[in-house]
Amino acid sequence: MRLEFRKLHPTFVAEASRVDLRKVEDEGAFEGIREAMDRFAVLVFRDQALSGEEQLAFAIRLDGELHRKTGISVLQKSRFGDEALTDVSNVGADGKILDADARQRSYTLANRLWHTDASFQDPRGRYSMLAALVVPPVPADTQFADMRAAHDSLPETMRAGLEGLRVHHSIAYSRQTLGFEFSAAESDCLKGAVHPLVLVNPRTKHRSLYLASHASRIVERPIPEGRLLLRDLIEHAARPERVYRHSWRVGDVVIWDNRATMHRACPFDDTIYRREMRRVTTLDVGDPSRMAQAA
Ligand code: OGA
Ligand code: MN
Repeated sequence: MRLEFRKLHPTFVAEASRVDLRKVEDEGAFEGIREAMDRFAVLVFRDQALSGEEQLAFAIRLDGELHRKTGISVLQKSRFGDEALTDVSNVGADGKILDADARQRSYTLANRLWHTDASFQDPRGRYSMLAALVVPPVPADTQFADMRAAHDSLPETMRAGLEGLRVHHSIAYSRQTLGFEFSAAESDCLKGAVHPLVLVNPRTKHRSLYLASHASRIVERPIPEGRLLLRDLIEHAARPERVYRHSWRVGDVVIWDNRATMHRACPFDDTIYRREMRRVTTLDVGDPSRMAQAA
């Protein structure tokens, strides 16, 4: 099977030709998707019908190991019965739309901050795969920012100055900027992680800025300079020319590379309209093609 990709943005994001992801079997096709991920960083697949188990199996075949220590798992069990299946819906365990004051709702609302999935863990997240199950009749989009273009468009002297810097990422930090509070026991599970500010894709050698709202400080720079630099870089990365906005249709599966993008949810009337989304994120460990060969 040969997949084709049509670009949806001048610098990143592509839509795949017709394919049923449940039927992707040969290693060549998986490698084709990995190569396209390296090229475009965000891939859109239309008209999919993956069950939770099929989504998990696909993610493992594509990229190896799954992220299970999600932020939300510290608060509650996944409605989908497996901590690797993250519920990104505005619906509670009873199947009803969450109340305005529900804790799960305030937690998920923080997806409206620019972020990368699982940057607050070590190993960090690599690919995320979000499936749209129920989509509101009003726009409830997701935006993606191209962090390779963000890196490459900085002046050369500035790029050189960023090499070697490390950033602490904490989900408690990003939530607290919105006034969300964690108990002492919850905070204990959410200590955060340190990652380089500039990541290099080991397959393509392409550099990207790796930062987002979870980025609490630069280890080598004092506060407030380090924090201001992080803010400036996020602002630079999120300039309109580097942003793609995805309008969801039921059956869409969007896969993105968290090393090369930031994303955020756009606001909509979430106490009125139902929006059900299911995400699987893989860990940034090993070379996916070699891991698949070993399996
Ligand atoms: C996610 C996420 C944004 C959205 O699933 O990781 O941030 O629009 N989603 O739901
Ligand atoms: Mn996210």
